[in-house]
Amino acid sequence: MQRIKTLSEYFKKYELSEKDPAKFWSQIADSFLWKKKWDNVLESDFENADFQWFKNAQLNITENIFERNLSQRGDKTAIIWEPNDPKESPTYLSYKELYKQTCTFSNALRSKGIKKGDRVIIYMPMVPEAAIAMLACARVGAVHSVVFAGFSAASLADRINDCEAKMVLTSDGNFRGNKTIPVKDVVDEALEKCSSIESVIVLERTKQNINMEDGRDSWWHECIEDQPKTCDSEVMDSEDLLFILYTSGSTGKPKGVVHSSAGYMIYSSYTFLNVFQYDEDDIYWCTADVGWITGHSYIVYGPLLCGATTVMFEGVPTYPNVSRFWDIVDKYKVNQFYTAPTAIRALQAHGLEPLENNSLDSLKVIGSVGEPINEEAWHWYHDNVGKGKCPLVDTWWQTETGGIMISALAGITPNKPAHASLPLPGIIPVIVDAEGNELNGNNVQGNLCIKSPWPSIIRTTYGDHKRCISTYFSHYKGMYFTGDGVKRDHDGYLRILGRVDDVINVSGHRMGTAEVENAINEHEDVIESAVVGYPHDIKGEGIYAYVIVSTKLNDDEIKNQIINVVRKVIGPIAKPDKIQIVSGLPKTRSGKIMRRILRKVASNDFQNLGDTSTLLNPDVVKEIIDGAII
Ligand code: WT7
Repeated sequence: MQRIKTLSEYFKKYELSEKDPAKFWSQIADSFLWKKKWDNVLESDFENADFQWFKNAQLNITENIFERNLSQRGDKTAIIWEPNDPKESPTYLSYKELYKQTCTFSNALRSKGIKKGDRVIIYMPMVPEAAIAMLACARVGAVHSVVFAGFSAASLADRINDCEAKMVLTSDGNFRGNKTIPVKDVVDEALEKCSSIESVIVLERTKQNINMEDGRDSWWHECIEDQPKTCDSEVMDSEDLLFILYTSGSTGKPKGVVHSSAGYMIYSSYTFLNVFQYDEDDIYWCTADVGWITGHSYIVYGPLLCGATTVMFEGVPTYPNVSRFWDIVDKYKVNQFYTAPTAIRALQAHGLEPLENNSLDSLKVIGSVGEPINEEAWHWYHDNVGKGKCPLVDTWWQTETGGIMISALAGITPNKPAHASLPLPGIIPVIVDAEGNELNGNNVQGNLCIKSPWPSIIRTTYGDHKRCISTYFSHYKGMYFTGDGVKRDHDGYLRILGRVDDVINVSGHRMGTAEVENAINEHEDVIESAVVGYPHDIKGEGIYAYVIVSTKLNDDEIKNQIINVVRKVIGPIAKPDKIQIVSGLPKTRSGKIMRRILRKVASNDFQNLGDTSTLLNPDVVKEIIDGAII
């Protein structure tokens, strides 16, 4: 696969991708290994959310990681694994070794009855076996669904039930900073509510005491004993499912975003190579967790498809101290470093001292993902981590897009603080107003849509295609609606402004306000609740909950209990930062909560609340302002 190397080449490729997408994408696809080539590059129907890329071609994505790379890069390191505890030895897995372990585990999956199309849940720590689990599923044609191991038993059960998974891959426990998390206990609790699971494979990591259920649970190391070290890969059609990844929306329960085999393969690797400008001997590190799309596309699939060396880190940025990220960069001489603004802001708060003992000389490119990066954090990151010499790529994309959509190509397209900047070739972003009119030219602001299909566009929301159509393809005819606001500045660069729907972004984690409300409402003393986001120095957005209760408990007791309920129903990441007990919520005459008012109060902005006289209960506004938690 050719990499774009100059600005003029970028413009040339962009133009080709607009004029002749089939030619543009087939040139890229030609460098992959196909079991059978396609009949047609693209068939697309926005109205019905029906996208078929590389129609009727056959492939297996793992052949494109292994068989395609092994002859040239067999001994090259594929994965460097840095454990939670820096005193524990790292693991280096060459492409050959990773191939062997993937095949061995693929055979283990088959021996447990897993076959093409079966859904397998991966609920694991950040260890090489998590990547091996994903690749082994892909090798045998099973559809993986990785669930972030910080989610609660209830959330895990919901996901298992939604996709009727047959198997769970997990560990005894997880190490995270100075904590040990009893993951297997969470799985056991979840499985009480799941009837589709036939077997569980458990990786030994923490060696803590766990329950192993006879006939259902087995140890990873025992499953791979005596398995052959090669394994035929399943023949996958281009559009066969590769994985499901659950993500939050503005309504209802999290939905299973579906990605298919060929398009995702092409797009994740193309964007990895071009955005990060990866060179053959580079060491690349993305700090995400494989439980999120960033981990899928830019720890596992993108880098491995390109034959890159990818670092996987089990721990957290603050353990054993706040220099940990920088120690790892120096330890492995990382060339490309990709993290989230929330991590930058958290480390920024500790000043420059934690950086003093590290040279960070190896860095060539630094990246940002997951939420808007404010200018202050941008400059801090650029000046002190990138030492003013590394291009900073601010990459905008989503679980649904599968790969980076709007971003500078490092060192090639221009950089501008806090701007995602320009679209990648093949991506046609448009700005539309509320009525769906396209706003052309510079200096305009509106909702971000994408006008053309790209290879890794969401294919469906698992089990509910109508929901996919109504969420993404119905707001504006003939376009994909992102849910984000955007501004095109006077130079034509794009700046993402954040969500325009009821989704909030807390530390780069996406959450539906309705989802948090539903969790709060599970407390028996809660009558009603409303959740909004508010600006938070470190997290980007914090969670502010207004709650009506009928309880004998005092305020502190009920607040603590509410926090615990949210932990149990969703997980610690959804805990409200602030809870205000109120006697009522501002409602319109039709009974709709006026969230605009709640957002303003939570943001400490009591001016311009707008006309509140039409409310059903205008008096409650004063009470809410008086009791606001600042
Ligand atoms: C939402 C998608 C994409 C991987 C991680 C998050 C926000 C993402 C940026 C960015 C401003 C960003 C958007 C988007 N977002 N990257 N560079 N600048 N906002 O994936 O959980 O699907 O969340 O994250 O609001 O819609 P996700």
